[in-house]
Amino acid sequence: MRRKLAAGNWKMNGLAASLAELETLAQAPAPHQTDRMICPPATLLARAVNVAGEITIGGQDCHPQPSGAHTGDVSAAMLADAGATAVIVGHSERRADHHETDADIRAKAEAAWAAGLTAVICLGESLAQREAEETLSVIAAQLEASTPDGATGTNTVIAYEPIWAIGTGLVPSLDQIAEVHDAMRAQLVARFGATEGKAMRLLYGGSVKPDNAADIFATSNVDGALVGGASLKAADFQAIIDALDAA
Ligand code: 13P
Repeated sequence: MRRKLAAGNWKMNGLAASLAELETLAQAPAPHQTDRMICPPATLLARAVNVAGEITIGGQDCHPQPSGAHTGDVSAAMLADAGATAVIVGHSERRADHHETDADIRAKAEAAWAAGLTAVICLGESLAQREAEETLSVIAAQLEASTPDGATGTNTVIAYEPIWAIGTGLVPSLDQIAEVHDAMRAQLVARFGATEGKAMRLLYGGSVKPDNAADIFATSNVDGALVGGASLKAADFQAIIDALDAA
């Protein structure tokens, strides 16, 4: 019932030449049950929209205000104006580098909705929290505080990205992924009701690669992936899209 979603986060990578990778992806046959999204750096966003075909384009962050004296920031309205349909909020790199709190992320998600964008809200525990067996409580608290009231299957995607799995080649066991995703699903159903709670897509992120994608996508309540490094090359990301569409 939920369409799958393969989302690529290019982070602070990509110059004009990188758009060739997106063009290659856009020329591949459309998957049957999988939506595709690329989140390029803001500098490439408008140009990416022009070559993306049926692939949707998202921002990587937005300011909570629609406009104003915030040098260097980009608002959700600006992302929408450039052709984005979604924006990542609360990535652990933003939480760490820019000291973003759950309250900040909730405000950004609300700003995204106000601009007509889907908010891709990111959650994840640190290695110390994982080792202290705090993962489920940390994720529950982040999910509760980062997700605004009014979340639906249309306006919100949740991405579980263990911090220690990002860019490291380390991946939780399939049981560990299932445990977190099942808990997030139950929490969303309890808070937003069965219809919307079951409609929201739950992505796994953290060292998703072509060779581990099929196993991850066969895991309970995993509706897709948020992919960093492996989204930079069309061949790698296409292999992940294909694995997801076949799952
Ligand atoms: P990697 O796929 O490079 O581990 O990055 C995951 C991520 O942070 C996506 O947002």
